[in-house]
Amino acid sequence: MSNLHPPEGPRRRQRAGCGRLVVVGCGHMGLAIVKGLRASAPNRDVVVIDTNSDRIHDIASSEGLQVWDTMELTHGDFVVLAIPPQVFPAFAVTHRHQFTAETAVLSVMAGLSTSAISAALGSRQVVRSIPNTPSAVFQGMSVYFAGPDVADETLAEAEILLQAIGKALRVDDEELVNDATALCGGGPAFVSYIVDAFCNFAASCGFSEADSKEMTVQVFGGTASLIAGSSKTPMQLCEEVMTPNGTTERGIAAFDAFNLKTSVVAALAASAERSRELAAVMAGGAPT
Ligand SMILES: NC(=O)c1ccc[n+]([C@@H]2O[C@H](COP(=O)([O-])OP(=O)(O)OC[C@H]3O[C@@H](n4cnc5c(N)ncnc54)[C@H](OP(=O)(O)O)[C@@H]3O)[C@@H](O)[C@H]2O)c1
Repeated sequence: MSNLHPPEGPRRRQRAGCGRLVVVGCGHMGLAIVKGLRASAPNRDVVVIDTNSDRIHDIASSEGLQVWDTMELTHGDFVVLAIPPQVFPAFAVTHRHQFTAETAVLSVMAGLSTSAISAALGSRQVVRSIPNTPSAVFQGMSVYFAGPDVADETLAEAEILLQAIGKALRVDDEELVNDATALCGGGPAFVSYIVDAFCNFAASCGFSEADSKEMTVQVFGGTASLIAGSSKTPMQLCEEVMTPNGTTERGIAAFDAFNLKTSVVAALAASAERSRELAAVMAGGAPT
């Protein structure tokens, strides 16, 4: 996969200056971004904001990182919004006066559109992304969208940040971010759910918990590497293991009997639908 997919579009204006990076919300996502940035750009001036006093203390002791509980923007700051989407409306009311039309913003908040964020903060420079938890080990998969008003410089900065925590794919249709919320944002949960089933089977056979986990993780990681490095489709690689009348064919037949593939697609579609519902609620649409 290419890391950058700049779609054709109207010329974007350049945004002047490049200042501090201000990460608002230092939970799972915010901390992953900060860690990725510290590894890839250790000299970057990063300011971290969080309102949770326990977390501020924990991050100070585990990461040696100073976390502030209030935000004071200066001209040229690049703001990463990694707070829960539910608290964003109150955040915007309190902090809107600190933003200008040119304040660069990278949102990782699920379900909040670029237009909703722009309207709430008054900035036209909003990049919307959906990362995932493997970002914590720099193996994230982020999908992001930027409208035509976003300056090249803002976009480049957002790309650098997202690529510091894994791979990043740009889409030119914001609707796809909702689908990516299911596939990439929720993906680690869905995969972990299936990994758990593999581990349960191994444990029921008599393997220890540690061996069950090691075997399963190696199967998933090894298969992911195999698929990534192969020109064959996943189904071709599947069929290569399925000797006629063999053990794997019997297992796949059981999957098919339970409509597993249809179920997985239906689960992802349901998750993407929920992302759209939440986006409508956050935009002030009909509650569900
Ligand atoms: N986790 C994922 O897999 C994932 C994937 C994709 C996108 N996201 C998005 O990433 C964002 C953060 O998710 P997360 O999992 O990192 O959440 P999290 O672990 O709960 O971290 C959010 C942090 O922001 C703090 N916070 C709340 N209001 C704040 C404010 N006004 N100013 C500064 N800090 C504030 C929270 O404090 P309190 O604990 O006191 O509330 C918490 O420490 C969400 O918008 C989510 O939709 C998450």
